[in-house]
Amino acid sequence: MIGVLGATGAVGRTAAGRLAALGAGGLRLGGRDAARAAEVAETLPAPAEVVRVDLTDPDELARFCAGCRIVVNCAGPTYRVLDTVARAAFAAGADYVDIGGELAAKDALSGGAVPRERTAVFSAGVMPGLSGLLPRLLAKGRPPRRLDVYVGGAAVFTPLSAVDALLTRGPRFGVPMAAWREGAVTPLAPLHGVRLPGFPEPVHAWPYLTTEAQTLAAECGADEVRSYNVFVSDRIPHALSAAWAAVPDVHAAPIETLRPYAAEVVRASVLDNAGFGAFYVMLFTARPHRGAPAGPTRVLLTAVDSYALSGVVMALTARTVLAGRVPPGAHLAAEVLDPDATVTALRDDPLVTQLSVD
Ligand SMILES: NC(=O)c1ccc[n+]([C@@H]2O[C@H](COP(=O)([O-])OP(=O)(O)OC[C@H]3O[C@@H](n4cnc5c(N)ncnc54)[C@H](OP(=O)(O)O)[C@@H]3O)[C@@H](O)[C@H]2O)c1
Repeated sequence: MIGVLGATGAVGRTAAGRLAALGAGGLRLGGRDAARAAEVAETLPAPAEVVRVDLTDPDELARFCAGCRIVVNCAGPTYRVLDTVARAAFAAGADYVDIGGELAAKDALSGGAVPRERTAVFSAGVMPGLSGLLPRLLAKGRPPRRLDVYVGGAAVFTPLSAVDALLTRGPRFGVPMAAWREGAVTPLAPLHGVRLPGFPEPVHAWPYLTTEAQTLAAECGADEVRSYNVFVSDRIPHALSAAWAAVPDVHAAPIETLRPYAAEVVRASVLDNAGFGAFYVMLFTARPHRGAPAGPTRVLLTAVDSYALSGVVMALTARTVLAGRVPPGAHLAAEVLDPDATVTALRDDPLVTQLSVD
């Protein structure tokens, strides 16, 4: 049995659909609204069980996980869920894949919380996820002088994703207006009205040195990594800044306090989307050292729906875990997925408009 928690969401619906199509086992769909989960079940190519579950209720969560080989968690807010669902999955003898969590969730499982035979993979979406995985194609066997990451576009935020965007603050998540240069975090200015390959309009690129980008820099030996969140206007960065000014300690704030600010982020994204239409671009460029062996210097992925694409990545990650190709322990998807195999799988995917490695 494969348990898909959050199966009615923007990410979860696609993850459930792709897992059903893989035929890797029976599916159990979970969320607080069982009727909505039943509607999703109706759309799947094979029968699926529906279980009502609120992940904040330990008994309901235990019942949901019981009998699963793997629990695929697409519910959030991921930076509040952290290791909660992973621990319930382990208690039921299941492996685990999570749409987010990053180092904060992985750290929460340190000190022996992962049973000896069990595997957990966090951050198995587009960002975090593909944003840390795909640049590795540019660094294989030849550490670059500089690696640039540009991710974004004009997607409408779901309210839950907007809450998570507010929670990407603090040392375990990233450093705004910063780059990684020769082992140190250094200041980096935003780019305004810049034309970038793959982006249909001039865009604004705001530096955000995620922990994922820092890990990438350390693992691929890049002298410098510049990582940007890309927007079609300054509305979303301004909505986020206003929220952080009003609620400086977002991690201590109750979700109810964050909701009005999340609504402003959603509103900003709706306005961006109205002006430009939906698009999502992941652009990675490498500048090699002089004399480095020849190899690709640019990866470009474009899509319309980044949430659905995250669902595809979740299903690919779950398939990799089920095939026994991820060792026991807690990992981030970017560290354990094979970048070449992922590109091969995504290139033929109808949700990917373009994927080139040049
Ligand atoms: N890594 C990435 O690239 C990436 C990309 C997109 C999104 N995300 C993250 O993925 C998560 C889901 O985003 P989304 O846009 O798909 O959100 P969404 O459309 O609101 O879907 C959330 C899903 O989780 C369920 N859910 C919410 N709270 C729950 C709870 N307490 N217990 C059980 N189920 C619950 C919802 O169903 P009910 O309301 O019926 O419970 C729904 O099925 C967010 O945390 C978001 O930040 C990550």
